[in-house]
Amino acid sequence: MATGTIESLRQCFYLKRYSRKMRRWGFSITVLLLLLLLVAVSAIVLYYFSLHLKTTINIEGQVNQFKSSLSNHHLILLTYMRSGSSFVGAMIGAHPDVFYMYEPLWTPRRALGGLTKLRYLNGSELNLSEDQTTFWFTSVQVLNDIFQCRFHLLDVGTLTHTHMYRSPSTEDYAICLNISHVQDLTLKEEIISKIPSCLPLLTSACHQAKVKLVKVIEAFMDQAINLMLSDPLVKVLHLIRDPRAVLISRKEFGFYPEDGVGQNSWELCVQILRDLELYVHKRKQFVGRVLTLRYEDIVREPLDLGRQLYQFVDLDIGPEFMDMIWNMTYAGFPDGCNVCPVRSNATVTAYKWRKRASFKTVARIQNNCLDLINLMGYRSFTSERELSSLHLPAVHRNYDPRFLQVLIRK
Ligand SMILES: *[C@@H]1O[C@H](CO)[C@@H](O)[C@H](O)[C@H]1NC(C)=O
Ligand SMILES: *[C@@H]1O[C@H](CO)[C@@H](O)[C@H](O)[C@H]1NC(C)=O
Ligand SMILES: *[C@@H]1O[C@H](CO)[C@@H](O)[C@H](O)[C@H]1NC(C)=O
Ligand SMILES: *[C@@H]1O[C@H](CO)[C@@H](O)[C@H](O)[C@H]1NC(C)=O
Ligand SMILES: *[C@@H]1O[C@H](CO)[C@@H](O)[C@H](O)[C@H]1NC(C)=O
Repeated sequence: MATGTIESLRQCFYLKRYSRKMRRWGFSITVLLLLLLLVAVSAIVLYYFSLHLKTTINIEGQVNQFKSSLSNHHLILLTYMRSGSSFVGAMIGAHPDVFYMYEPLWTPRRALGGLTKLRYLNGSELNLSEDQTTFWFTSVQVLNDIFQCRFHLLDVGTLTHTHMYRSPSTEDYAICLNISHVQDLTLKEEIISKIPSCLPLLTSACHQAKVKLVKVIEAFMDQAINLMLSDPLVKVLHLIRDPRAVLISRKEFGFYPEDGVGQNSWELCVQILRDLELYVHKRKQFVGRVLTLRYEDIVREPLDLGRQLYQFVDLDIGPEFMDMIWNMTYAGFPDGCNVCPVRSNATVTAYKWRKRASFKTVARIQNNCLDLINLMGYRSFTSERELSSLHLPAVHRNYDPRFLQVLIRK
């Protein structure tokens, strides 16, 4: 019976989506009324179904059956700054069944160091100081609170961040708060005081979504593993980009000074290798729950990889999504901005760094990142000419699933 219901709901979503077109084609009012009736009945069924789900949440086995038939997922897009995650996040987050939260750990991460405190709606404050452990627990808790749609437990800085405009799921809430004026300190308290009245917009959008997606660049695989252990719905999309592209882009972004490339490349590549290795050691526990992807592959085959990404979290997609992905990657729309997801020609944008970077800088990065570069199937460049000859691909082979063995042997 459950399967039948879900099937009819699916049909229903499709019908709703295409209803505008149908009207144009001249379908009669009767058909529309019937559709509305179908929507209403399905909504009631879904409501009772969700009540039932809540009451059985602690019964093992049964729960799993419900979960898989409802195909709910808590997806962590785990990646590193300037790795193409805005694009991948926007692509998945555009689906109407996805609740997407853009970088909810930004504020907690900035509070690490003690310059600012995290402030909560209940009036309490948290000074993270230099305490990495507290940051670790706070970030696990934040992600878990989002997956459970408990936004009132997040810190006020996160709840008033302009990141809320970056996702269609949180945009209505941002507009309700009028967050764009939050930098104006005279308005800050007023905006904060409006949070409780706007919060239901977040909560209901979250509860309605089958897939909850968070994009994080401040957390790492050990936090993700912790969440996978405590929550069977959690899946991880581990997005990796050529470290040379990441580091060149970060430098242009002003993330580190001219002479910082040595230290930054070392830190980044050690972190990515550690994340891969952590997962590799536990992979038998998490079969089918972690997907490692290269950004370059998504750029090369956005339609195919996009379909696989949606499949990873059991989302149905229609042709309009293929259209959207094409618009975001190759349709020739002007590149939005530095952190915007739209690319005029995604291949051109993805490899711009090869024309801009000096060979000296690239060689320094390669020196620190050789293991990762080899492991993920990127090509090491041996000269200025190789670097700027775009016909020589920077990705020269697929990364073999057996690459995991290499890590274990090390
Ligand atoms: C947080 O604690 C540290 C160390 O105790 C202190 O130096 C810092 O000023 C505190 N930060 C705030 C914002 O109170
Ligand atoms: C206030 O909320 C925060 C975040 O949920 C929680 O960690 C803290 O313990 C709460 N403080 C009080 C006094 O209830
Ligand atoms: C947002 O706040 C600014 C500054 O107070 C105000 O000028 C503007 O009208 C507000 N917008 C909305 C939609 O309330
Ligand atoms: C893609 O772009 C075309 C041309 O501007 C537009 O007509 C179409 O609606 C867009 N499709 C989506 C899904 O955004
Ligand atoms: C994007 O740019 C690449 C490299 O210049 C080119 O080969 C490809 O045809 C372009 N794609 C589209 C759809 O314009």
